[in-house]
Amino acid sequence: MACGLACHLLLVFLAALEGESRYFEAKDEVAAEEEPFLLLNADLKRELSEGQQMYRRALRCIDMLSLEGQFTFTAEQPQLHCATFFIGDPQEFIMIDFDFVNIDCQAGDFLKVFDGWILKGEKFPSSLDHPLSTSERYIDFCEAGRIRSTIRSSQNVAMIFFRIHDLGNGFTLTIRKKPNLFPCNVISQTPTGRFTMVIPHQHRNCSFSIIYPVVIKISDLMLGHLNGLHLKKPSAGCGGVGDFVELLGGNGLDPSKMFPLADLCHSFHGPAQMKIGCDNTVLRMVSSGKHLNRVTFEYHQLDEHELENRKENSLEEFCLSSV
Ligand SMILES: *[C@@H]1O[C@H](CO)[C@@H](O)[C@H](O)[C@H]1NC(C)=O
Repeated sequence: MACGLACHLLLVFLAALEGESRYFEAKDEVAAEEEPFLLLNADLKRELSEGQQMYRRALRCIDMLSLEGQFTFTAEQPQLHCATFFIGDPQEFIMIDFDFVNIDCQAGDFLKVFDGWILKGEKFPSSLDHPLSTSERYIDFCEAGRIRSTIRSSQNVAMIFFRIHDLGNGFTLTIRKKPNLFPCNVISQTPTGRFTMVIPHQHRNCSFSIIYPVVIKISDLMLGHLNGLHLKKPSAGCGGVGDFVELLGGNGLDPSKMFPLADLCHSFHGPAQMKIGCDNTVLRMVSSGKHLNRVTFEYHQLDEHELENRKENSLEEFCLSSV
């Protein structure tokens, strides 16, 4: 069964919270329901194309949202391990407003926002690449007493965690999206796409994550290209100095824990292609701030046939091993 990181995401989340046995139960339930996550996505797309103005629906305990709208969770039984993953287009921030919250912090309920996604302790963006410290990335409703202002994510993904003991308690939130002119860290919403990452004279590192096994084709890479002149190429490969692009593969979310598959440290035009059979593929650009760096790439999901023909390369075996 082709169940990439995107679909594992929900299963793994349950596993992390409730242990292996629950994981397998959950897996069976999901198999029986023919992957509700995939159906959910189809539903969301249909609703999107119908062009509703203000989308409203109830939240499930474990949920994923890619649309703007108003969402309400009401506990119909004690719900101890719930999470909602939000995702937008690469060029969007997620904006979260809590319209109404009725939870009992004293009784152990909580409601937290996380700036990014986190699964099994693995974060996206990694703590190395995020502008805020890990503790600053959490906003805890129970600590703050209330969350009055709009929360804006630093990239196209965010999530909430919550625990609610009493029946009837819950919350309502509104999700909106705002344009992000210079997207840095991104999780692709789709297994197929095309993207240009630009880091304009900024000392920062950016990761583009595709949570599917993919073929990635880099069509254009420009590093340290100033005023129409190429800077002298560094002599000894990337060697950890200067600006470069790295391709990473792995089965978790955190780019800093992924396996380096290739480094690209010279500008070029024309396609360079690589098949990466991992659950998660990341293209990461390391930028010193001295240059305007830009990379254009496209990607599409590896099909079953392509996945079978990837045996020779030992790096790719690494990606196969824990699928
Ligand atoms: C970017 O990454 C490189 C290598 O991974 C690291 O040496 C550098 O400190 C990072 N820069 C920033 C701003 O985090």
